[in-house]
Parts: sequence; C-alpha cells; structure tokens
Amino acid sequence: MPRLIQPTDDAILQAASVLRDGRVVAFPTETVYGLGADTFNTTALQRVFALKGRPERNPLIAHVLDEGQARRVVTGWDDRCSLLAARFWPGPLTIVLRRAGDVPDRATAGWPTIAVRAPDHPVARDLLGVFGGPISAPSANRSGGVSPTTAAHVADDFAEVDDLLILDGGPCEIGIESTVVDLSAAIPTVLRPGAVSAGEIRDVIGEVAGSSASAQTHSPGTSTAHYAPRTAAEVVACEGLENRLAKIEGPVTVLCFEGTRLAGPHRTIVMPDDPDAYAARLYGALREADQNKPARILIVEPASTAGLWGAICDRLNRATGAYSGTYS
Ligand code: TXA
Ligand code: MG
Repeated sequence: MPRLIQPTDDAILQAASVLRDGRVVAFPTETVYGLGADTFNTTALQRVFALKGRPERNPLIAHVLDEGQARRVVTGWDDRCSLLAARFWPGPLTIVLRRAGDVPDRATAGWPTIAVRAPDHPVARDLLGVFGGPISAPSANRSGGVSPTTAAHVADDFAEVDDLLILDGGPCEIGIESTVVDLSAAIPTVLRPGAVSAGEIRDVIGEVAGSSASAQTHSPGTSTAHYAPRTAAEVVACEGLENRLAKIEGPVTVLCFEGTRLAGPHRTIVMPDDPDAYAARLYGALREADQNKPARILIVEPASTAGLWGAICDRLNRATGAYSGTYS
C-alpha cells in the first residue's frame, strides 16, 4: 500500500532522502500530482516509466525551483525564456528547450530536448529546495488515464505499490496540466494548452504558433487515448443530450451544468459554470463517473472555448478520443 503523509518539515526531509536514494515520490503541484524522481538518476527514472506503464518515447517534465535550476538542464536559455520565467514562474507553464549534455537519456526519453517547469505549490517548492536539484515527474496516474488532482487519486492508481510515498498537499488548485510551449524550434509553439494561454505567451515573447493538431503531431505526449477514463466517454451538445441518452442502453453518468434534469436510471454530476472551478473539478468528476461503472459517460459541451475553456475542451476531446492529432 502507498503511504500518504502530511507534508511536514520532517516529511519533506524524508521525501528528499527517498529521492536521493534513487526512489520515487508522489507530490502535489498546483496543476496535478506528479510522480517524481531524481532527473540525474537513470534507474529512478526507469522506475517512473515502469510504475506508470509509460511509453518509452514519452519524455518527462523536469521540475525546477527557479531559472537557476532550469539552466542546469537545458542549453539555449535566452532572453525569451527569462521573460517567460519572470512572468509565469512559479506557475503552470512548461518550456521545452534543447537539453544539457549531461542530462540522462531516460529523462527525455531519448529526445534532444527537455521540458522544464517551476511548479507553484508550497510542497513542491519545499521538496525542490530541500532536494536541491531538478525532479523529473509525469502526472502521477497510470499512463493514458485521468491525471490525479488529490493524493487519494494517486493512492487509487498505485494501490498495490508498496511504500510509495505520497505527500498529501490537498486538492490541486488548477486541476489540469500545464501549458507546454516549445522554444527549441524556430517558431515557439504551444504543444499542450493549459492555464497559461497562447495569447498570454505571445504578449511576452511575440510570435507563437497556437496549439493545432499539426503542431501537436510533433509533440511526443498527446494521444487520443490520453487523459481518458476507463468508461467510454462522449462530448454532447446540451440540446442533443436527451436524444443521445435515448439511444444508450443502461445507466449513463452525465457531467452537466446546473439546470439539467434527467429521468430514468441516469446520474448527473453537476459541473461549475466558472472555468477555473470546472478545471479544478474535471478529473475528480471523471474518476467519480468511472466508479459508478455506467454504460457510458456523457459530457455536456461547455458553451465557450475562450480562455481556459479552450484547454478544458482540449482535455474533454482527449478524454473522449475525439482528438484528431497523434501522440506517441
Ligand atoms: O502540469 C503538469 O505539467 C504536470 C505536473 C506534474 O507538473 N505534469 C505533466 O506531465 O502533465 P506529463 O508527463 O503527464 O505530461 C508532460 C507532457 C507530455 O505531453 C510530454 O510529451 C510533453 O509534456 N513533453 C515532455 N517533454 C517534452 C519534450 N522534450 N518535447 C515535447 N514535449 C514534451
Ligand atoms: Mg500525464
């Protein structure tokens, strides 16, 4: 069984020593929980891939305390990076650059680039500070599944992993994964949308290519079967909901908005109207929906795709396999 512990000073010291021993620690960030290992320890990194069942070619994000730690693992840190870090770090922005020569292959899954991010969560920051170096961490879920936004989600996904240390930092404030922007290419490109929008990045560094399916084909980590619950899920327009329900046999769990009334054996999970609150609730709601073991999960389409709704819709498309890009 995993060991959930409160993030006291002692617990942080213990977690840092587990990392130094080449083992794995789950920790909270403001986006989702991460499954962390020492960026410079190949055996520990291999353990992260094995625990998650992560495809060998899907690279990890190196979590850093600040620009100084980031520079340790990249080459080509330039003024644009400093501007982005000054504006968005610590926070939900991941920057991809060419990797430094001594970064192990496993940390980047063999890719010549590395993703770096300074998380904005006191527990993550304490851990990075005490450990004193970068921590590579994918989201702490089984590969392809829904990311964890509480320590209990991590414990559920890794229930049979003895002694997995999980620092319990409460529910994640943002609830969807960071924006990933590639600065290693000629034109900076958003590979994964998140709470920091392409427009906000553009305001800081000028030209940025948005997150298009073709851009994402070049990103190793965004497949159709990514971020998906176990139950088959579909996005439906609000006005099409009743028709769709009538065609499905057995109980359905519907993620809807306030005001939806359903007859029959179906269940609803009422989602917030506000995008920040919706994002924070989304992965927990998908996990709850899965637990009901319904015939199908239907997700009522949000009315907007502006701002954070754009990143939310990206995750809904992935959760339902409607995303048309490829991912390794
Ligand atoms: O919010 C987050 O980013 C969370 C927390 C824990 O920080 N982490 C996270 O990690 O979502 P993961 O591994 O689940 O997703 C990382 C994404 C993947 O899509 C991966 O392919 C992409 O970042 N990525 C990592 N390194 C990359 C690289 N060198 N080039 C392009 N994409 C990269
Ligand atoms: Mg992930």
